[in-house]
Amino acid sequence: IREVFERSVDYLQADGELVTVCGWVRTVRDQKQFAFVQVNDGTNVAGLQVVVEAGVPAFALVPQLSTGCSVTVRGRIRESPAKGQPIEMVAAELTLTGPVDADYPLQKKRHSFEFLRTVAHLRARTNSFAAVARVRSALAFATHEFFHRSGFYYLHSPIVTASDCEGAGEMFRVTTLEPGRADVRDEDDFFGKRASLTVSGQLSAEAYACALSKVYTFGPTFRAENSNTTRHLAEFWMIEPEMAFADRDDAMDNAEAYVRHCIEQVLYRQNEELELFDRFVEKGLKRKLQATLERPFARITYTEAIAVLQASGESFEFAPHWGADLQTEHERFLAEKHFQRPVFVYDYPAAIKAFYMRLNDVDGGDGGDGREPACRTVAAFDLLVPGLGELVGGSQREERLDTLLQRMRECSLDPATYWWYVDLRRYGTVPHAGYGLGFERLVQYCTGMDNIRDVIPFARYPGHCEF
Ligand code: 4AD
Ligand code: MG
Repeated sequence: IREVFERSVDYLQADGELVTVCGWVRTVRDQKQFAFVQVNDGTNVAGLQVVVEAGVPAFALVPQLSTGCSVTVRGRIRESPAKGQPIEMVAAELTLTGPVDADYPLQKKRHSFEFLRTVAHLRARTNSFAAVARVRSALAFATHEFFHRSGFYYLHSPIVTASDCEGAGEMFRVTTLEPGRADVRDEDDFFGKRASLTVSGQLSAEAYACALSKVYTFGPTFRAENSNTTRHLAEFWMIEPEMAFADRDDAMDNAEAYVRHCIEQVLYRQNEELELFDRFVEKGLKRKLQATLERPFARITYTEAIAVLQASGESFEFAPHWGADLQTEHERFLAEKHFQRPVFVYDYPAAIKAFYMRLNDVDGGDGGDGREPACRTVAAFDLLVPGLGELVGGSQREERLDTLLQRMRECSLDPATYWWYVDLRRYGTVPHAGYGLGFERLVQYCTGMDNIRDVIPFARYPGHCEF
């Protein structure tokens, strides 16, 4: 149907040419002389209005048509005499491809997103969810486009892994055993050791960046964190670029360019969808996206951010202080109220960050200058955006063997488990940096959808793995 709209000028000129469209019926308005059948095939917002005139044999089928049934229609395209759509189809032939049972859950009226989550296998037939799916697809395409143009290679990092990249213990275990037989020893299990679903492809990306210079992953990621929020999923998709011979600032520059490219592409290619979201999901969405492109993203150190928060006069639930991680309320204050645009916060306290982040020599002390380990910072950064909070987390990596081993000990990690990762520091180590962007959060930012469960086709979160 989208193609019919795109080529409508040709069709109008070649008056009388028969065109075939297939799709699902949204609504039927049956009048005496003709019927209006709204057909949608998920390729655009509008769908196509099909006029079935009383004179054609297909008119006899109209009483059998109702919301949800699939049809194949052959007809002529003409300018629509009525308001609301530029073109319509006058049916010559109509086939009822698949009738619909009377208990079809989707009706003409608008359904709540909560309800639609319970029929996730059908919700893509609604305008909002089809539009989300198209924007999601466009963002995936823009992602590959951006990295390929920037000289990155697409890396397929493993899904099943033995390393906990984040060291947060939020791994789903992979085993062949039926439940209730957890007594089997890891060494007797399928892989001969404990295996889990990956929480991040970063460690593999580092290995490949230290060979191909620039790589990115784009794949499913799993976190067994029991957080029932509108921003967390147990299964989500992450883009993880990794660059050799690069530092923290290079990674921030790349993240900014990448996010900008995605927004540009969505504004350029998915205008119809954005207009829909602007009307029904987030007022001012298009303006927000355009404004995001107008100024560079803000950048501020963690230490400065704490000072801003403390001086803000806001009554936070959790009082900000140096050494504590930023809470969502703090992140949103910085992006929404203080800077009113995306902001990078960088150089976080080492004590609250992962073992692989590069210890800073200056600013917070390097551990050799007499400062307490608790005051040290690492070259980490988060990108915080209005409406969401954290969209990206990244860092320069610790490339110095001794410092890495020291940090692993501080984080109670056994270097033997990460032997191959440690090897990268023994064989031709280089400064390198990268980040992870939560793909669903990017889709949320670009669609205005409130709940992350509504921007992934089949959401997995605590208690939910139905579809
Ligand atoms: O900040 P995170 O945990 O960073 C990493 O995993 C690094 N290894 C990335 C890297 O440097 N290569 O996760 C990165 C991003 C977050 O900023 C967030 O957008 C998203 O992944 N994310 C989630 N998205 C949905 N549901 C969850 N449970 C998420 N956890 C993280
Ligand atoms: Mg993070």
